Amino acid sequence: MKSTLFALTVLALLGSTQARTWDEIKSSGTIKIATEGAFPPFNYFEGKKLTGFEVDLGNALAKQLGVKVEWITQPFDNLLIGLNQNRYDFVIASHGITPERQKAVDFSNPHYCTGGAIVSRVGGPKTAADLKGKTVAVQVGTTYLENVQKVAGVGSVKTFPKDTDAQAALMAGRVDAWVGDKFSALDVVKAQKGKLQQGDLLFQEKIAMAVKKNNTTLTKQLNTALSALESNGVYAKLSKQYFAQDVRCK
Ligand code: ARG
Repeated sequence: MKSTLFALTVLALLGSTQARTWDEIKSSGTIKIATEGAFPPFNYFEGKKLTGFEVDLGNALAKQLGVKVEWITQPFDNLLIGLNQNRYDFVIASHGITPERQKAVDFSNPHYCTGGAIVSRVGGPKTAADLKGKTVAVQVGTTYLENVQKVAGVGSVKTFPKDTDAQAALMAGRVDAWVGDKFSALDVVKAQKGKLQQGDLLFQEKIAMAVKKNNTTLTKQLNTALSALESNGVYAKLSKQYFAQDVRCK
């Protein structure tokens, strides 16, 4: 009796450390997708509505896979941790594929390609060389942070919980530059009407969905669904809607 109880407890604990396989997700009828909800135009709130290119793409992927979606929003820095705690099935939040992250999670095929751009007030730094001695704002836990830290002679790097906070610091004159996504930057520069400028790209990256390590059945389904959307016009339509161009990796 005691040993049965023990075995059940061990099984329950083991079970809770396992990510849901594709078959389990499919039979539950609902896939749980996590994102940040503060990274326009990729994932953000319009009032109470979660929207953006990645949210629409996530919904389209689920439709393609024949399941409903439950969205979960988390601060960017917590997203991969929650994934490894099996709090959701995958993450779509503009994560660049990096060797460091690949140690912790698996990535799908990339769902877009982009780069980290230097943005400043007009007259401010535009190149990596210009960042010498300057103060740069970036979102915490991002590839922007690690790439700005690599710039020789950079002054200080200030991290912010949200990318939009880093942008606000630039607008308020509290930093000399913000490094962020080149497509987000296009929108911000446009909205600021002549006050900001987009300079050089510091680096390029491939953005993909993060899946729990070794959850191969799910990764495979996501890749198949993504290529279906890439060939049936759904991806192209969404990309055009949000960026007026096709952002898929070439
Ligand atoms: N692409 C950058 C990275 O890989 C930034 C991602 C930020 N995403 C977000 N939802 N705030 O780190």
